[in-house]
Amino acid sequence: MTAQPFSDELPRRLARAEHVAVLTGAGVSAESGIPTFRDEDGLWEQFDPKELANVEAFLDNPQLVQGWYDHRRDIATEKTPNDGHEALAALGDLVPTCTVVTQNVDNLHQRAGSETVVELHGNLTRSYCMECEREARPGDLDALAEGDAARCPECDGLIRPDVVWFGERLPEGAMERAGAAASDADVFLSVGTSAVVYPAAGLPVTAKEHGAYVAEVNVERSAIADAVDEVVLGKAGETLPALVEAMRRIA
Ligand code: OAD
Repeated sequence: MTAQPFSDELPRRLARAEHVAVLTGAGVSAESGIPTFRDEDGLWEQFDPKELANVEAFLDNPQLVQGWYDHRRDIATEKTPNDGHEALAALGDLVPTCTVVTQNVDNLHQRAGSETVVELHGNLTRSYCMECEREARPGDLDALAEGDAARCPECDGLIRPDVVWFGERLPEGAMERAGAAASDADVFLSVGTSAVVYPAAGLPVTAKEHGAYVAEVNVERSAIADAVDEVVLGKAGETLPALVEAMRRIA
């Protein structure tokens, strides 16, 4: 049997925590087959965010951007939550309060059953009209298959994905809820994120400043590894179930 990749302290702290907060990034969905952004083969290695992930690019070429998000939506819908998502949902049932703050837009935490999920960067499964803000309904994106831009059936405005693009503000209230969860946390886990995109990357530091025990779970050390209490090296889909199992043995 290989040694557990985390300290005894971490499951002990989790088992007696009142509040747990978890920040997740693309790495937690990698084992579901959804590409990350900055790893080799990551999305930003293959595509230029300047052409796809900002409002100017969208207005220049709405079909291209709508089509790219439609493709990512299809991938996310077809994939399923992995053992890492499931372990975080199980963790939520073991502690009084567990908030999952995610930078992911793939909806996999919600599908795994995590109850409190703060979506910092939106959610691919939703789209809305840029003009009248009506939420898009099934069929509203059908024009894409004909090679046309998808437009709102009510006001003819362009339909955009409900995700945060570079240069845009986070959804109203999301960062406040995330900050409150970080400040209240007894244990904070930063899982599968390179921790280079702010303000999300500041949350582990906020948690630490407010007294949380902060651990990172990643296949390699991230940008904030030196600032945390513990780095758990390994795949989220393997280390998180082991961590929850260790917690259960204590509880
Ligand atoms: P990144 O692609 O920057 O980082 C993914 C992280 O996951 C890296 O640190 C990997 O080492 C780690 N990783 C890969 N596989 C893993 C696994 N199986 N288990 C654990 N860790 C693993 O993705 P994010 O940090 O999520 O924003 O990127 C943050 C934001 O940048 C995204 O939300 C997106 C992007 O631009 C917007 O689109 C607004």
